[in-house]
Amino acid sequence: MRVDIVVLAAGKGTRMKSAMPKVLHCLAGRPLLGHVLDRARQLTDTDVTVVVGHGADQVKTAFDGDGIRWVDQTEQLGTGHALQQALPSLRPDAITLVLYGDVPLIALPTLQGLVSRVSDSSLGLLTVTLDNPAGYGRIVRDQSGNVVGIVEEKDASDAQKALREVNTGVLALPPGLAARLLGQIGNQNAQGEYYLTDIIALAVDRGFTVNTSQPSASYETEGVNSRYQLNRLERIYQRQRAIQLMDAGVTLADMHRFDCRGNLTSGEDSFIDLNCVFEGTVTMGSNVSIGPNCLICDAVIGDNVTIKANTVIEGPVTIAANVEVGPFARLRPGTVLEEQARIGNFVETKKSRIGPGSKVNHLTYIGDTEIGRDVNVGAGTITCNYDGVNKFQTTIDDGAFIGSNTALVAPVTVGKGATVGAGSTITRNVADGELAVARGKQKSIAGWQRPAKIEKD
Ligand code: UD1
Ligand code: CA
Repeated sequence: MRVDIVVLAAGKGTRMKSAMPKVLHCLAGRPLLGHVLDRARQLTDTDVTVVVGHGADQVKTAFDGDGIRWVDQTEQLGTGHALQQALPSLRPDAITLVLYGDVPLIALPTLQGLVSRVSDSSLGLLTVTLDNPAGYGRIVRDQSGNVVGIVEEKDASDAQKALREVNTGVLALPPGLAARLLGQIGNQNAQGEYYLTDIIALAVDRGFTVNTSQPSASYETEGVNSRYQLNRLERIYQRQRAIQLMDAGVTLADMHRFDCRGNLTSGEDSFIDLNCVFEGTVTMGSNVSIGPNCLICDAVIGDNVTIKANTVIEGPVTIAANVEVGPFARLRPGTVLEEQARIGNFVETKKSRIGPGSKVNHLTYIGDTEIGRDVNVGAGTITCNYDGVNKFQTTIDDGAFIGSNTALVAPVTVGKGATVGAGSTITRNVADGELAVARGKQKSIAGWQRPAKIEKD
C-alpha cells in the first residue's frame, strides 16, 4: 500500500520557552521529529513530507541528508492550511497519512491499523476517549453512531463539550481526497483558522464513511507542548526500554534510574546498577556487569565483562570477553581491550589496543598505543603522544614491564619482555629483553644536617 506521510511541524511551541524549534527538542537523545520519521519509515512504500514554519531552517539543517521533502508554511493559518501546502507533493494513488512532529511515541501497529481502515469510500480517524477531554476537538456522531464531524473545543456547544471521544489529529485519507476537499475549508470559526478537522464533515457530506480506530496506549497520541509533557513522555519511553531489557534477561538495579538514548542490546544474565546512561549503539554479551554511574556510548562489550562504578566509555570502543574496567576509567574512541585485559582507576585510553591479559591499573594515559599480551603498565605511566602539532605511536611488546611514573615519549617502542625502571623518561627504543632506566642517579649523603632556622632579632 502506498502511503504519503505528511508531518505537520510548523508550530512555534511557545510553551517550551525555547530558542530552539519544539520538534528539535530531544526525547531519549533524538529530536521529537526524528522519532516520528523513524516510525513513518517503518510503514512500507512511504514518501515523507514535513511541513515546517517556525525555525524551518534549523529543522531542515538538523535532518539534512535524510531524504525528506520539506514544505514551507510561512504563516501558520491552521492545520488544514498546513496540509494544503503539502498537496503538490502527494502522489495521486497514495493514501495520505497525517502525523505531527511533536507526537513522538505513536506506534507502528496503530498506524498500520489506521491505514488499513482506508478505502475508496472511507477514511481512517484515530480517536481516544478521555476522562478530561478539555482542549481537544470532539468527535460528533449521529444517532446510529456514525462520525459526522469534529468540533473544536472553542467552537463547541456545552453538549458537545461533554463528549469524551476526542480527535488525536492523526488521520488517513484515501488518494485524492485531500486535494479534492482542502480548498473548500474556510476559516469562519472561533480561532479564524483553516481547520483540517473540517475535512471530516465535508467527506461525510460527499458520502464517505469515517472509520475510527484507537491506539493501544493513550500516550501514543500525546503531544509535547511543554517541557513537563516532554519529560512525561521521556519517562514513559525509558520505562518501555527498561522493560524490554529485563524481558531480554538483564537485571536492572532500578528500572527508574536507567536511561537508554540509542540502542542497547544484551545477552542474558547481565546486570546494570543504578544511574547508568547508554548512548548510541551499545551491544553487550552475556553476564556483563555494569557498576553504578556509568556513561556508555557506542561500545561492543563481550561476555563476562565487569565495568566498575563511574566509568565513562566514549566509543567506538571494543571490549573482549572477561575484561575488567574501572572504577573511574575513561575509554575514548578507538580503544580496543582484548581478552582478560584490565583497566583500573583513573586510567584514560584513546586509539589504543591493550592486548590479552595486559594490565593498566592506575593513574595512566595510554594514547595512540599498541600494547601486546601480558604487559604490565605501572601506576602513573604516560604515553607522550603529542608534540604540540603531531601525534606519534607507542608500541609496547608482549610481556614488557613498565615501571611506575614512566613517560614514554613517542614515537617509541619497548621490546618483548623488556623492563623500564620506575620514573624513567624513555625517548629511545628499548630492545627485547633489555632493562632501560632513564632517571637521575640516586645520591645518598650520610649524616646530612637539615638547615637550622635563622633567628631574627
Ligand atoms: C488539533 C486538532 C484537534 C485535536 C488536537 C490534538 C485541528 C483544527 N484541531 O488541535 O481536533 O484534538 O489537534 O492535539 O486540527 N500546525 C502546523 N501549522 C499550522 C497549525 C498547526 O504545522 O498552521 C501543527 C502544529 O505545529 C502542531 C499541530 O499542527 O504540531 C497541531 O496544531 P495545533 O494548533 O496545536 O492544534 P490543536 O489546537 O492542538
Ligand atoms: Ca496542540
